[in-house]
Parts: sequence; C-alpha cells; structure tokens
Amino acid sequence: MKNRITKDMVYKCVEKDQGLVASDPHRLHYHIMPPVGLLNDPNGFVFFKGVYHIFYQWNPFAVEHGMKCWGHYISEDLIHWREAPVALLPDKWYDKNGCYSGSAVVYQEQLYVFYTGNVKDDEDNRQSYQCLAISEDGIHFEKKGPIIYVPDGYTAHFRDPKVFYRGDSWWMVLGAQTEAKKGETVVYQSKDLTTWTFKGNLIGSGYKGLENFGYMWECPDMFRLRDKDILLVCPQGIPAQGISYQNIFQSGYFAGEFDNQSMSFHHEKFIELDRGFDFYAPQTMQDPKGRRLLFGWMGNAEEGPTKHPTAKYKWVHALTVPRQLEWKNGKLLQYPVEEFKQLLENEVDFGEIHLDDELPFPLPNINETAFAMYLSVESIGANYLEMQIGESHLIYNQAINLFTFKRRSFTKPHSVESRHCTVDFLHDILILKDTSSMEIFLNQGEEVFTSRIFEEQETNKIRLQANGKIKVNVKKWNVRR
Ligand code: FRU
Repeated sequence: MKNRITKDMVYKCVEKDQGLVASDPHRLHYHIMPPVGLLNDPNGFVFFKGVYHIFYQWNPFAVEHGMKCWGHYISEDLIHWREAPVALLPDKWYDKNGCYSGSAVVYQEQLYVFYTGNVKDDEDNRQSYQCLAISEDGIHFEKKGPIIYVPDGYTAHFRDPKVFYRGDSWWMVLGAQTEAKKGETVVYQSKDLTTWTFKGNLIGSGYKGLENFGYMWECPDMFRLRDKDILLVCPQGIPAQGISYQNIFQSGYFAGEFDNQSMSFHHEKFIELDRGFDFYAPQTMQDPKGRRLLFGWMGNAEEGPTKHPTAKYKWVHALTVPRQLEWKNGKLLQYPVEEFKQLLENEVDFGEIHLDDELPFPLPNINETAFAMYLSVESIGANYLEMQIGESHLIYNQAINLFTFKRRSFTKPHSVESRHCTVDFLHDILILKDTSSMEIFLNQGEEVFTSRIFEEQETNKIRLQANGKIKVNVKKWNVRR
C-alpha cells in the first residue's frame, strides 16, 4: 500500500498545527476536542482497569472527513481528561480508508474494541469489514482483522458495531442499509466475541409506523434502563416535519422490549434525543457505579466542516460533556454527570427575580467565556419568558408549550436560526456555556439543546424578560478548566 499511515505522521501533524489551534479564541475549556484536525463520533466508551476511556473518530490530517483514526482520552473522574496515544490507524488492507466508529468491552481482563474497516477502491467503490482489536493495557492495540463480512441483501453501508452482554451471550447491533436503500439495525450474537452469528434485522425504515424513515441508520446503541430496552440510532434521510427532524441527520431513540429469542423489538415511537443544532452519533456505557453514561458528538454533518469558523485554525468539532441517562415517567432524561459539579466555582446567587410586563431585567455581564447558569421557575403568570445570552435567545412560550432556542448563524451572514421543542411546563433550565458551545438542559434533562455558538460580540450580555409576572431564581458559576 502506498503511503502507509504511521503514528509518526500523526504526531508530526499535531506538532505542526498545535500552535495555530491553541491561538483560536473559540477553543473550548472543558470539552473534549481534537488536538488538531477533525473530530466526529465518540467511540469505545468504556471503564477499564480503573479508568474511563473515550475514543473518537479523528482525522488529524485535515478538517475534513476522510482518513479516520481512533483518537483517545483517559480519565479517572470523567471531568479531567488526558490525551493518550492515537489508538487505531487506518494502516491495514481491511481498514485502509478509515477505522470507522465502534465500541469497546472488557473481556477476560482485556479490552476488546470493535470497529468498521472502511475500504475504497480506485473507482471509489466502498467495502466494509467489522474488525476486532485487543489491548492488554488499554493503550496499545493488536489488530485481529475482520470478524464480520457484509451479509447478502445489504450494501457496504454496514457499520458502527456496538457490543453488549445480555443473558449468557454477547450481542452486537450494527447500522445497515438494505439493497433497497432502507436504513436498518441488525443484530449479531457471539459466545466468545470472535465468532459472530447473524441474527437478522431488528427494526428499520419501512417497518410498520416507520415509512420513509431513512436510507441509512448509523451508530446504533442498545441498553436496558430500568424496565426498558432503549435503542439509540441515527437515521439519515428523514425529511423535516414541523419542528421535528430539523438537522441534516437525526439522532434519537426507541424505547421498548427486545426479545432476543424471537429477535423482535416492540417499541414506542422515535424520539429525538437532542433538539439543538449540533448533536449526533452518541454512545453510552454502564460504569462501575451502575450509571448509564453518554457522550455525543457536538457536531453534525451539515455545511461541511471546512466552513466551520474554527476550520481556519485547523481544528473542528468537540464532544458533549458526559451525561447520565435516566428513564423517568416514560422519558429518557440526560443530565451532566454529578462529577461536573466539581468544576463549578465562584457561585453567584442572583436570588429571586420578579419579572413584570415586558421590562427587560439585565443581569451583570458575564466576563468569563466558560460558565454555568441555573434558573428555576418559581411561579409563572405570563405567556412567555425570554432569556438572552449574548446573541442567543432562549424563549419559552407557555401559551403554546413551545421552547425555542435561537442562535446567530455561522454559515449564513446576518441570519438567525431556531430550533424548537414542546415543553408542557417549564420548571428549570441549566445552561453550560463553554466559549463557542452551549448545552441547555430543560426540566432536569427532559429536553436538551446542544449547539455551537459563534458570536460577533463576545459580551455575554444576559437579560431576562416576560410579558407578565414571573418569579425565577438564578445562580451562576464559573467553570474551571
Ligand atoms: C457517523 C459516521 C459513522 C461512521 C463514522 C465515520 O457520524 O458516519 O457511521 O462510522 O461517522 O467517521
């Protein structure tokens, strides 16, 4: 193979561009970012030998999708992460055009990672192989090659293995496209993680209630939370519908019951996981405390990465903060892990604020670029509540139970763009602002808006406003790096 990629090539690239990357004022403070180049999906999220590992899709060579490696970070506490050597490089015949997304499990005191080897020939025809690599120490990996080939009836868009243990077997869910160009989630079973049996398709576009539900389903993840089986999945090609499915690709979940004897999945309707502009390809794991934790890619494919404001500084995209998932009152909740509180300092309590009739209530400008704010609604006798943070707006319209987030577009000059969701009653809002990102959690994580924010004036001017009487409590913290 010509120009086989080596670790040295990666490190030279990092060395060359890291100065420029560090000079970007939009660089985040407490989120995982690529040292240089492009980051997309979180991969291989796992707890192994006393530490958390998160890997990610990484093209160190350009701010474009392409030659994906597995970048790697390690942490004891989920909030302080240190970079580890690049874990997987596309350097074998079966992964030469990218070590695509996948997952990790611990087996017999070793780390088993499963990923998709992406291969393209000179005519750009794609092939994909589900591959295994094993590590003793969680740092160095030995590739074992392909363990699954694309079965009949599917195209080469067959990827993103997520492995989990259930009953007395290992199971793998995979993102797939049928020859009829329908997205599906398919299932494999194994006793030893090496020999895998195709068990069939579980759910997909064209199934009852899922007509026109996408031409490809990426990055599935399945786990049990309380008495539900949750399937996370990212369908591509669902048309926008009212306030739903506004991003180019969707990320959401089905809650239901997975019966691994009959290979059936009785499920409720698809619900979007996040309502913001920049969220995709989440991955979860269960940690030793029994918590179901999630990382998402704080990005999506729209507009092309080279148009991103940070691209000229030779890096693009980040991961979300790690979140804990809960199943409560028929809903999947997401909230920052409790360890995140350790990063909060210099609490300012603005106390109870009484808003009345359209009079804007300014809070002191916030000078820090990384801060958290918590707002709890004590009583609401108005139709709408609006909060302005810099050039972004959070608006709750109680009359129609609609929550709206508006940001200044960073691709279309002088335009503002919005995302929405319905909220029956607004109790509280947690806002995590980190330089050029904002994660907004409503009602303890019932709804989340994850977005990148690039503003012309970095003042972080904060104002509250309502068209009637509203009592709110507001607190603010700086977030330590
Ligand atoms: C999702 C995705 C995956 C694929 C990876 C490649 O964002 O397209 O399906 O494995 O990214 O980087």
